Amino acid sequence: MKNRSSAQNEFPLMEKGENNVVLFHPHIPKNGINEVTNTLNSRWIGQGPKVDMFEQKFSSKFANGNPSIAVGSGTDALHLAYLLAELKEGDEVIVPVFTCTATNIPFLYMGVKIIFADIDAETMNISVAHVKELINEKTKAIVCVHYGGLPCDMDELKAIADEYNIPVIEDAAHALGAKYKGKSIGEISDFTMYSFQAIKHITTGDGGLLTFKNKNLLEKSKRLRWFGIDRSAKQGGIWENDIYEVGYKYQMTDIGASLGLTALEEFDEILSHRQNILKVYNENLVGFNDVKLIGTNCTDREHAAWICTIYVENRLALQSKLRDYNIESAQVHYRNDRYSIFGKRRHNLPNMDMIEDNYLVLPLHTRMSGEDAKRVCDVIKTGW
Ligand SMILES: Cc1ncc(COP(=O)(O)O)c(C=O)c1O
Repeated sequence: MKNRSSAQNEFPLMEKGENNVVLFHPHIPKNGINEVTNTLNSRWIGQGPKVDMFEQKFSSKFANGNPSIAVGSGTDALHLAYLLAELKEGDEVIVPVFTCTATNIPFLYMGVKIIFADIDAETMNISVAHVKELINEKTKAIVCVHYGGLPCDMDELKAIADEYNIPVIEDAAHALGAKYKGKSIGEISDFTMYSFQAIKHITTGDGGLLTFKNKNLLEKSKRLRWFGIDRSAKQGGIWENDIYEVGYKYQMTDIGASLGLTALEEFDEILSHRQNILKVYNENLVGFNDVKLIGTNCTDREHAAWICTIYVENRLALQSKLRDYNIESAQVHYRNDRYSIFGKRRHNLPNMDMIEDNYLVLPLHTRMSGEDAKRVCDVIKTGW
């Protein structure tokens, strides 16, 4: 093992190069640049007709036709979901400790109390058993994150939420195209949010979308996305409109939607490319005792293959070895209770405690091939 400290930045960002397998790469659709150029040559570059079109196409593909609101980021979509769910100061929410901080930061603005739940050791998704222990009358929502693209235990989470008559809010930033018991992620819960940040399955530069079941929330969601203003009334010239809700500026732009629309056209290819790479990791690493693949054993749900995570002892040594072979790897997300903004009090969460130093994310994107993934596996199997 090389003598490395635990500092992550000992592995600076790897440049693209012929023999380099980078961790992430944005997917720019074939028609994306043309479509963006067309938009730039048109009258609408901000939120206009392409955003509407993107919402409609997205909704029919992933959300069973439910209302879908395109916004500036996944974080915006989460904040919007929490506002629409009427979470407020003093309420408690149960959230996964292991996620992008974006899942939980909106609660800090809202004064909502975050209760961190442990992860399931097999999937790194929220632990249903721990949610059951934590829930009480003060809990007003359960938030789950489909880590890496593997759906959480939705039936179990919904059963707990139903008992307390509270919503499940899905952070599906990683899980576009995932399925749970035959249903698309996006048509199951009261609220589901997506991210179209640069390295997600599809990107709008930065962007996100919230889909929800209650059609009565549609107008409110549009107002909150746009300063609290009823935009259609304003465009009709009715300036008497009052503003009675504190809104944000959370809209997607037509520039972003142009990329999003062209990415939707090739989404099936994108998903199957990613799933094939995950399959290569599975076929080559399952059975190799020194690493364990996270979340690949479930047969009742379909993995969206956003990232591939392994559990490994001496993680830094493996990272270093991979780097010697021009292969980038990293941890990507960290337990949220290590950050001062969340109170910086490490909670006693046995599965998270066990895994936190020992997980590693391997390259997975559309600019790499199955052979690249096989090369990563071959290097891993020579030991570290
Ligand atoms: C699990 C998760 N939730 C939320 C977000 C936030 O999405 P965005 O970057 O689009 O705001 C991300 C990452 O980008 C994420 O990985």
